[in-house]
Amino acid sequence: MKKYLTLTRRSFIRTTAAGSLALGWLGGQRAPMAYAAEADKPALLGGTPAHKGGWAPWPEWREAWEPEVLKVFRSGHWFRGSAAHVEEFENGYAQLLGAKRCLATASGTTALIVSLHVMDVDAGDEVIVSPYTFIASYNAILANMALPVFADTDPATLTVDPASIESRITERTRAIMPVHIFGMPCDMDPINAIARKHKFAVVEDACQAWLAEYKGRKCGTIGDLGCFSFQESKHIPSGEGGAITGMSDELIDKCNSYHNCGRACGTNKGNGSFTRGHNYRMTQAQAVILSQQFDKLVKQTGIRRANADYLSANLGKIPGITPVRLPENTRPAWHLYAFRYDPAQFNGLSRDKFTRAMSAEGVPCGGIYHEQYYDGLLDEAIASRGFKRLWGAERLKAYRDSFQELKGNKQVCETTVAMTQNMLLAGRGEMDHILEAIRKIHAHSAELAKA
Ligand SMILES: Cc1ncc(COP(=O)(O)O)c(C=O)c1O
Repeated sequence: MKKYLTLTRRSFIRTTAAGSLALGWLGGQRAPMAYAAEADKPALLGGTPAHKGGWAPWPEWREAWEPEVLKVFRSGHWFRGSAAHVEEFENGYAQLLGAKRCLATASGTTALIVSLHVMDVDAGDEVIVSPYTFIASYNAILANMALPVFADTDPATLTVDPASIESRITERTRAIMPVHIFGMPCDMDPINAIARKHKFAVVEDACQAWLAEYKGRKCGTIGDLGCFSFQESKHIPSGEGGAITGMSDELIDKCNSYHNCGRACGTNKGNGSFTRGHNYRMTQAQAVILSQQFDKLVKQTGIRRANADYLSANLGKIPGITPVRLPENTRPAWHLYAFRYDPAQFNGLSRDKFTRAMSAEGVPCGGIYHEQYYDGLLDEAIASRGFKRLWGAERLKAYRDSFQELKGNKQVCETTVAMTQNMLLAGRGEMDHILEAIRKIHAHSAELAKA
């Protein structure tokens, strides 16, 4: 047990305090093993939590942002077409990412729906996507009356395994949608190579990957189009909100038209009147809230990265904890900090009990995504009149059966543990508390498994 224990200042004080007390009880006789065991006891077994005082609240609000937001409300110019704030945000966000263009949208989901439509994903098409993602990735494909076809997840990276993509291709495949889950970049080179070979579009789901980098390029600028979310939990939030980024004027102009009721835009002249479209516009107040957070996003991304690197370097030393392997030359955004957990190395302590023990230590964490393709959403879709009309029964049965092939994803769903991004904004001392909590649980896993 001691092999993995490095005492933090805080746990050192606690250990020595417990030691003094015990020394008093024992009439001055030394009993070092007993003191250490007492100090290290997990909170769930009556010990002192490794971390007290909670974590940074999220989302953050700063009074300094209020005058600009009030100005917008007082102006009465709230909708996209009546002021320049949305465009200013688009220009700023594009610059931040090194994208040629950006289009603000109402949400990440609508950014994905628009992008897939503009990349010509149509009714009856298939899109190859990561299964390990928030359900909106599946829904955006279904909203275009296309079938989300799942490539497998690589248990080492938690992102799509590029080697599993080609076997999912059919004559209906139109696009690949890699998801940079938890802000960890997918291995984009092999994905883009497959897309080029088969002439597929690539729409990056970068909804959790603001400023994440793959080989010197920001996520969201590596495929044809990239999509972002600014929902409340996100690193740059505005309650709801989204964006599409890209390097092509033509594509972003088409996105603009489709998100704006089909009005002609820039290079997309349309047919003189309206083309198909929706209202997926961002409001001026959202844009003003977002633009004021650029500096904060950059600064906090650096803090999250430094803390995540520190955790990964130390967690790998604890048996049964495997930090994520990142593709070469990548810099994640760390929307969640995840690792894989092996109960066999914790005396059979289930993941559920492990995460409960962690929460008792003041370090909230949990398993994140499960095998959502069995939840009924896809069954409902493929049982619908539209889907039955677009695909034969045989294809839909083969599609449903293919979920069983997602062995890597099943493993990832069963073994991943993750913590939220705001915890990575704390100091090095707090990162030590996280490490201390896991080490304590590891040391006492046999008792915790029985408890
Ligand atoms: C991976 C992923 N894709 C898509 C979305 C959808 O974004 P929104 O909630 O802004 O519609 C999210 C949001 O959480 C997400 O995490």
